[in-house]
Amino acid sequence: MTLLEAATRVRENAYVPYSRFKVGAALRSASGQVYIGCNVENVAYPEGTCAEAGAIAAMVAAGETQIAEMTVVADSPSPVPPCGGCRQKIAEFAGPDVMVTLAALNGTTQVMRVADLLPGAFTADHMDGA
Ligand code: THU
Repeated sequence: MTLLEAATRVRENAYVPYSRFKVGAALRSASGQVYIGCNVENVAYPEGTCAEAGAIAAMVAAGETQIAEMTVVADSPSPVPPCGGCRQKIAEFAGPDVMVTLAALNGTTQVMRVADLLPGAFTADHMDGA
């Protein structure tokens, strides 16, 4: 199964009673394993979690910390971009050259490097000297 297929499939399980906007994410880790996530909303809105965060949490729970490739999909008119917080979360576990595919259910896709998703990222290096 491709990452797009996995993300599209898990998107159906998104819990989105408030936004009605389902998002699916799938990532392949360094080991080759695929991890999936969907957005899970909450009546206390800020407690909701994004699809990307779910996939990353599944990877970390399985004992892995390296994203090799990632795909995010939603029913948006253009390929869905990860939110700002998710860009930082992805950058924690992916090198600058890792490819992230943004997809829409209409079949359009856009591939972006992590470095282009989050230019000027805050990294652990910035805490040197603390
Ligand atoms: N959402 C994601 O799951 N990932 C993103 O990168 C963009 C936004 C979710 C959060 C919320 O459940 C819904 O989409 C609307 O913002």
